[in-house]
Amino acid sequence: MHIRSVSLEGIATIEIARPEKKNALTKAMYRAMADMIGAACADEAVHALLITGQPGIFTAGNDLEDFMREPAIGPDSAVAAFMRALLGCEKPVVAAVTGPAVGIGATMLLHCDLVYLSDQAQLVLPFVNLGLVPEFGSSLLLPRLIGHARAAQVLLLGEPIGAAEAVALGLATAVLPSSDVLAHARRMAKRFNSLAPGAVRDSKRLMRSASNAEVDRAIQLEGVLFEARLRSPEAREALQAFLQKRRPSFTPER
Ligand code: COA
Repeated sequence: MHIRSVSLEGIATIEIARPEKKNALTKAMYRAMADMIGAACADEAVHALLITGQPGIFTAGNDLEDFMREPAIGPDSAVAAFMRALLGCEKPVVAAVTGPAVGIGATMLLHCDLVYLSDQAQLVLPFVNLGLVPEFGSSLLLPRLIGHARAAQVLLLGEPIGAAEAVALGLATAVLPSSDVLAHARRMAKRFNSLAPGAVRDSKRLMRSASNAEVDRAIQLEGVLFEARLRSPEAREALQAFLQKRRPSFTPER
């Protein structure tokens, strides 16, 4: 199984474990993560969730072969179930970002609470490079958090954000040496074991409540455009180019 889960000492850890494909996420992996988040949220013994990857990679985002073969998007898709579970999680979610976080890997961090980055980590949202558009609220949250002009570099040009800059911009909590990031994130997650769970839950709810409706609206609009773009000649060319390990060549759309 490419997703591992363990509940120990109040912390439910979800580990993405497909290093041979840089932790690219398949439908089965999204479903597994959705189920694990649901179970952790329902378990009174769990005080915080911890999401992590493998040494040197957090996740390369959606499996691009899946996108080519059988694009599964829309509200009933596995990825939507995963993101719904993450957004609906009332317990604190801590991320230990062990390396590059690409596409949905970076997007999911915008919906976590404490984000610890390895000094090897980068956040990359290369949707335009793939002929696609940002998804799951990133087109709203990123400009809001870092300003339109910087977000344009990230979302339109596909430029990565380095670990130190991500912290300076308020996108992440702290940078740690790669050998320490998981242990540090786990230590921070364990602090919730001695905090009042009801107060933590209500405070998280308050922190998100002002933007919830806007995020939902953005996700809907992004979903419609994402689905259309995924079927576009631009995306077909970009995805084929990735799988054939060449640069894409785009012609103007009419
Ligand atoms: N989907 C499917 N396979 C992927 C993948 C993805 N998103 N990302 C990487 N892989 C596969 C590669 O095809 C390669 O497979 P192969 O060994 O069978 O040829 C393997 O993982 C290793 O990837 P590689 O690119 O050689 O590793 P790298 O260390 O040079 O680079 C990344 C790592 C993450 C920077 C790079 O793989 C990458 O940019 N991936 C695509 C990210 C992306 O565009 N995600 C989609 C966002 S919507």
